[in-house]
Amino acid sequence: MTELSDAYRTLAALLHARHSCRAFLPEPIPRSTIEAILAAAQRVPSWCNAQPWQVIVTSGEETERLRAGLIRAVRTAPEAPDIPFPTAYEGIYRERRSVCGWQLYGAVGVERGDREGARAQMLENFRFFGAPHVALITTPAALGPYGVLDCGGYVTAFTLAAEALGVATIPQAAVAPYAPFLHRHFDIPDDRWVVCAISFGREDRDHPANAFRTERAPLSEVVEWRGTPPEG
Ligand SMILES: Cc1cc2nc3c(=O)[nH]c(=O)nc-3n(C[C@H](O)[C@H](O)[C@H](O)COP(=O)(O)O)c2cc1C
Repeated sequence: MTELSDAYRTLAALLHARHSCRAFLPEPIPRSTIEAILAAAQRVPSWCNAQPWQVIVTSGEETERLRAGLIRAVRTAPEAPDIPFPTAYEGIYRERRSVCGWQLYGAVGVERGDREGARAQMLENFRFFGAPHVALITTPAALGPYGVLDCGGYVTAFTLAAEALGVATIPQAAVAPYAPFLHRHFDIPDDRWVVCAISFGREDRDHPANAFRTERAPLSEVVEWRGTPPEG
């Protein structure tokens, strides 16, 4: 049996502890902490080392301005993501999506049939769940899905580095349909795609929205062994 190294244990502990935070405290995060998160995330691999992500980080008044502008856009603008949303979640994907949705609704007391309550919880996305900071991730359109793939790795590393520093996060594709507003608001050129946001800050540990944890499929459901690795 392979001896698990301290490095593995530390990484695995971070992977298990990280979760999406859906209620933040207003307390801002010091710039040196945010820079440490960004510096660690910068180390992820990318195809040809292109490092396609560009990151806009908001704080203070700029987060408030973004929040207000986005809420206006949600009320008035049609949805128009730069990257098309999934056309359907079928089978197991539909099931997993439903389970995590009901976990959230269960935690915050939204019952089946309570459409208004579900909508109110969904709208929390556009308040960034009260987070003091937002990182908006964009990728060059010319790199297509592979740029998006690299940005996915970046998002994961960002959330883990944040976790290691006691900073809670939530990646949010919910902002992506409002790409036209985000392009205007931040002067993002048309040759870049809005991928997602990451809201971050200190977790409100007493809030019910943070009281549940999602499950993961066992390896047997996702891994297909071809050939037999040596025992040990
Ligand atoms: C790319 C990406 C986009 C996401 N977008 C949203 C979102 O818009 N709103 C939301 O509440 N959660 C969002 N999530 C969080 C997922 O729902 C969450 O990661 C998943 O349910 C697993 O839960 P965990 O992060 O707590 O482990 C997103 C996650 C990822 C990776």
